Amino acid sequence: MTTRRTGWAEDERLLFVLIAALLAMSAIIVAVAGTGIDGTRMLIRATARSSLLIFLAAFAASSLARLWPAPTTRWMIRNRRWLGLGFAFSHLVHLIAILWLFGVYGGETPPPPMRTIIGGGIAYVFIALLAATSWNGAVRALGARNWQRLHKAGVWYIWLIFMVSYGGRAAINPLYLPPAMLLVGAAALRLVASRRRAAA
Ligand code: HEM
Repeated sequence: MTTRRTGWAEDERLLFVLIAALLAMSAIIVAVAGTGIDGTRMLIRATARSSLLIFLAAFAASSLARLWPAPTTRWMIRNRRWLGLGFAFSHLVHLIAILWLFGVYGGETPPPPMRTIIGGGIAYVFIALLAATSWNGAVRALGARNWQRLHKAGVWYIWLIFMVSYGGRAAINPLYLPPAMLLVGAAALRLVASRRRAAA
């Protein structure tokens, strides 16, 4: 028998809280900085950062729970699906702001390089696939092995795009070192946890 957890930070309630927080953050940025080029670019940067934090929580959940079993890490693994969907929503706002920037101010801002459009576009395909297959029914339909392959490839590809984005910026601006280090740390955690699992 499974016990249904109560409280705002569990199950779909966690997703609603994340969506509400992301909408509040976006509304504050639009109210303060406006919907011009600068305000829109601020929203793009802010959603990249909110996406990173939520993504890392989902990406590192099972490794953290394996290496340090504790109520917090067990909460992370229990709610990994909802964290993943929260990340997808945050990145949907990133995409809407990008479309707004280049759709409305295309004549005044240089277009993103082709490698960003292709690399980021593939990441969005993965984000859509992971979100669409985040239900138990999808595991049954795809088969557990295929589902795991898809999700493993997807999260590592998204990790790579974050790494290229923040790592590239960190090479010229040290303020970008913390997000780049968080990404390296999360990848290291996953590798250590998978070695432990293989050795067990
Ligand atoms: C076609 C897809 C995408 C396009 C065209 C795009 C475009 C942009 C642009 C124009 C910026 C710079 C905003 C500014 O500083 O003015 C940006 C920032 C960023 N994007 Fe995206 N993006 C895409 C997809 C993604 C994806 C899939 C990820 C992560 C998985 C991502 C992560 C980031 C990060 C980390 C930043 C840096 C934020 C910062 O400066 O703090 N982007 N993106």
